[in-house]
Amino acid sequence: MTLQTDTLPFHGRRGYMIVCDGSNGAGKTTLIERVRSHLVALGREVVVTREPGGTPIGEKIREILLCPDTPEMCDITELMLFGAARAQHLHEKILPALSAGKVVLCDRFDSATISFQQYARGLDAELVARINTLALDGFRPDLYLILDLDPVRGLQRVRARGQALDRLEAEKLAFLQRAREGYLTQAQEDPGRFKVLDAGRPADEVAAEAIALVERLLGQGDQHIGTVRQEAQ
Ligand SMILES: Nc1ncnc2c1ncn2[C@@H]1O[C@H](COP(=O)(O)OP(=O)(O)OP(=O)(O)O)[C@@H](O)[C@H]1O
Ligand SMILES: [Mg+2]
Repeated sequence: MTLQTDTLPFHGRRGYMIVCDGSNGAGKTTLIERVRSHLVALGREVVVTREPGGTPIGEKIREILLCPDTPEMCDITELMLFGAARAQHLHEKILPALSAGKVVLCDRFDSATISFQQYARGLDAELVARINTLALDGFRPDLYLILDLDPVRGLQRVRARGQALDRLEAEKLAFLQRAREGYLTQAQEDPGRFKVLDAGRPADEVAAEAIALVERLLGQGDQHIGTVRQEAQ
């Protein structure tokens, strides 16, 4: 099976999709809020969303997926539920926002399924790719900001936040370590689209680096659109 990796126009796409992903407690939600407020101040229309979830159907699936009382969930059930939520998310929310020229900031995406279900859980890469292809039909985000942090520190941050651990956070440390390595491997394989940020630094520093990357992406795209418009005249 071949995966389509072309980012060029997809169902009339004009906006940008940026994924923020990485270890639990690495600071994804914190970073997304900072990038969002920066982009809004620049006059961009921004949609913040998350996986699993992002739509009413997806949020119901999220409850099933993260419920700590159901450790009996089969690996394939888990994989397909993530895929089902993602398909709904793409069609109901992400593609319409991109068609309207908005910037979509998404907390976790297919990169998380590859890290957690494939690298950490050990599911077959081909199987995970099949589900992601079914859900995304060749769609790819423009940029993945990967927050890299030792899982021990990530869990300390989650605990300090005073929240109980969800089903995936409660997995053994070795599992979370394999997920971390899964993110780093994806970044090595696609360095143009994946940027790894050291999330052990103060949140301001992480945000400044992320914002520079986002501005570069948006600047390139706007330049491209400008060139196309000039050529059309
Ligand atoms: N760079 C940072 N340095 C120190 N603490 C941070 C940093 N970024 C976020 N935090 C704090 O760590 C905790 C976890 O951050 P946050 O909720 O943004 O992480 P997350 O990756 O979204 O977590 P989760 O995987 O649980 O969704 C929060 O209390 C947050 O204030
Ligand atoms: Mg979060």
